[in-house]
Formats: sequence, structure tokens, C-alpha cells
Amino acid sequence: MNSMASISSIAKRLEGKVAIITGGASGIGEATARLFIKHGAKVVIADVQDDLGQSIIEEIGEKGVASYISCDVKVEKDVENAVDMAVSKYGKLDIMFSNAGIPGKLDSTILKSEYENFKSVFDVNVFGALMCAKHATRVMIPAKKGSIIFTSSVASVTYGDAAHTYLASKHAIVGLAKNLGVELGQHGIRVNCVSPIGVGTPMLRNCLGIKEKEKVQEFVSEIANLKGTILEADSDESKYISGMNLVIDGGYSTTNVALKEGIRKMAVLNA
Ligand SMILES: NC(=O)c1ccc[n+]([C@@H]2O[C@H](COP(=O)([O-])OP(=O)(O)OC[C@H]3O[C@@H](n4cnc5c(N)ncnc54)[C@H](O)[C@@H]3O)[C@@H](O)[C@H]2O)c1
Repeated sequence: MNSMASISSIAKRLEGKVAIITGGASGIGEATARLFIKHGAKVVIADVQDDLGQSIIEEIGEKGVASYISCDVKVEKDVENAVDMAVSKYGKLDIMFSNAGIPGKLDSTILKSEYENFKSVFDVNVFGALMCAKHATRVMIPAKKGSIIFTSSVASVTYGDAAHTYLASKHAIVGLAKNLGVELGQHGIRVNCVSPIGVGTPMLRNCLGIKEKEKVQEFVSEIANLKGTILEADSDESKYISGMNLVIDGGYSTTNVALKEGIRKMAVLNA
């Protein structure tokens, strides 16, 4: 099923929902924005590429269903403003898709590691994600519901195929998502990650130094386990999912608060 083509024939899954998509001016975020709108959502694209972001809104934002806000996710005030804009314009926030990310330097040896590169990657990929969660949560807790989704990467479960800094940042996002899921479950808020392998977006094309999307797709296909299909930013939901055990337990299996509880009880006893 091509995600775009057949939506008119199925139920709109996001009718009435309001979403913020960081990094929504390009690649995976852009494709998600288009898909969410097709499914009936109202979308705020938050990005640093203002011209690109605005041009997407002009194309897809008819009837006030989408807006753009200039937002650098490593600046807390920008993220706060994006959340406030979604609420003031569309009345609420149901979905925070914290997707903006940068690859950093691709040099993969530890001896070439530099603080500046580490800081810039972690500021965007991890601190940015934390701020997205913080400000989304601010409005989702009173609503007692919401969905926070992060774009991590296959680099969160593989080793040796990505630069240390990028890989560590994507591992951090998975940890953050799981830990947030434990805290926010009591408020009815779900927290999840999506972790794609190579998608022929501008980011990957730049990383590989290959201009043509098709050549990048060929490259990824070559190393892929699953043959005869290609992962694209707008691939339908299960087209490239294989070998997964999608646990549907409301976060039960990630939740262990015994240590916290033990410390709390000890503090009470010692008081
Ligand atoms: N393309 C891949 O192969 C691939 C694979 C795994 C994970 N990812 C992840 O997917 C996410 C999206 O990447 P993409 O491939 O669509 O790349 P992309 O470059 O096409 O899009 C990323 C977007 O994020 C925006 N952005 C960057 N820094 C920002 C900041 N500080 N504040 C706000 N926006 C910012 C960029 O302007 C851009 O529009 C990233 O987190 C990336 O790490 C990509």
C-alpha cells in the first residue's frame, strides 16, 4: 500500500489531533507532516530551515491545517514557543514528534573525538528531545493524555556502523523514551521511539556524499536483509518492519520502580 494513495479509502486515523513535528521541513519529518495532515491532523512544523518549512506550509497548509514555527530544538524557549503556538492556534497538543536530528562528524575513531562535535550533536539530538518532552508534557499532563514519539535510529541497537557520538546520542534517546514512559504512564501519556535504518533523505545523502536519492536507496538495499523493497520516508507502516517483537503492554516491561520505592520507604523509616 502506498501510504498517500490509499488514505482516502481508509479511516482518517488522526482526525481532530494536533501534532508538533520537529525537523518537519525535510526528510522523515516532512513526510510525516504530509501523512498526518492526510489523516486529518493539524500540524505545527518546527524547524530551523525557515524557507523550506514555509514553502511546505504553503503547499499543504490550506484551510489552516498546518503552521510553521522557526524553532531550534536546542533552545528551550524555542521549543516552549512551539508548544504554546500549537495550543493557542489549535487548542491542544496530542502528539509531539521529536524528530529533529543531526549526524555530526562522521569520523568514527575515538581518538578523533572532539568536545565541540559531541556537544553540538547531543544539544540537538538529546537535549532537544528532552526539551520537546518537557514542554509537551507541560500541556499533556493536565489533558491526561498524549503521545510523545522520538526518532532514534537503527544505530541505537547496532554497533560499529556509526560514529560514536551519533550512536551514543541515539542510544540516549531510547533510554530517555523508556524512562519517560515510566514517569508519564500515570498521566496517560505514551512515549515511544522509531528507529529507522538508512532513508534517502538529505541527511543521509550528505553523509554518504551521494546526491541522488535512488543511489542511496540502492546502497541501503545492498546491505539490507529484506530484499525487494526500499525504506522511504513515506513508506507505509509495516513495509520495512521485520524481526521485531512489538511488545504491547503499556510500558509494563520497562517499568521497575522498586529501587525508588525502597529509597522512599527508607527515608520514611529514618525520618
Ligand atoms: N535518514 C536516515 O537514514 C536516518 C536513519 C535513522 C535515523 N534518522 C533520524 O531521523 C531524523 C530525521 O532525519 P532525516 O533523515 O529526515 O534528515 P533531514 O536532514 O532530511 O531532516 C532533518 C530536519 O531536522 C532539522 N533540524 C536540524 N537541526 C535542528 C534543530 N536544532 N532544531 C530544529 N530542527 C533541526 C533540519 O533542518 C531538517 O529539516 C533525525 O533524528 C535522524 O537522526 C535518519
